[in-house]
Amino acid sequence: MKTPRVIFVFVIIAIVAIVGFVYSGFYDVSASSPHNGMVNWLLSTMARASIERHAKGVEVPGLGDEALALAGVNDFDSMCKGCHGAPGHDPEAIGQGLNPPAPDLAVSAADMTPAELFWVTKNGIRMTGMPAWGATHDDDAIWPVVALVQKLPDLDAAGYQALLADAEGFGHHADNAADDGHAHASADHASNDADHDLEESDGHQHDESEQRDDSPQIHEEHDHSTHEH
Ligand code: HEC
Repeated sequence: MKTPRVIFVFVIIAIVAIVGFVYSGFYDVSASSPHNGMVNWLLSTMARASIERHAKGVEVPGLGDEALALAGVNDFDSMCKGCHGAPGHDPEAIGQGLNPPAPDLAVSAADMTPAELFWVTKNGIRMTGMPAWGATHDDDAIWPVVALVQKLPDLDAAGYQALLADAEGFGHHADNAADDGHAHASADHASNDADHDLEESDGHQHDESEQRDDSPQIHEEHDHSTHEH
């Protein structure tokens, strides 16, 4: 009966070593350094499997209607572009510092089902920068964004801008902008309603030292209507 005792001692040593490592502070949690390969595999495999399983319960409405993507483009532009980028737009400053990075949704759209895109958009992914939009948006507001994401593989920069221009007044972000009593000259303006927009970079790259010097600027109110996109 020696073997069970050896296994028991080994398990205790392993537990002590793991707990010791957790409290030691040796693991680097900074977003500026990459995950080690094993942790990366573990988290991304678990996330993928979780998304596939949970999305099975999602009922997908008809998404073929052109008007649905049109209804989603303003919301996509103000809610998603900052981190994920959009056709013709790199991710903004907030997206450039994310780890794990926010993937190009044109690529994701090609290999995820509409149910999976919806589930992730609604529920987010814990311990990453991906927010749960369902906390603030009901399903009817999320499906148009999913319809737009599904179109991304076919949209180039010009196609995206054209859709934004056609979509003036569509989507709840555009509505909110319109509600405050001033007319919008363009969809671009509507989509950049300062209340809803992510903090925008000023279109130039900051290096680390500059960013510290400039940081008060990030909190200034920008007049988004003067920005060219
Ligand atoms: C604050 C940054 C941020 C914003 C804003 C954001 N995302 Fe994400 N998103 C992420 C990150 C980071 C990931 C990657 C998470 C991971 O690696 O598991 C992600 C992952 C995703 C994925 C999974 C993609 C894949 O290939 O696995 C989808 C779908 C998605 N986001 C949709 C959206 C939509 C739609 C919006 C706008 C409504 C949005 N995201 C807004 C940060 C963001």
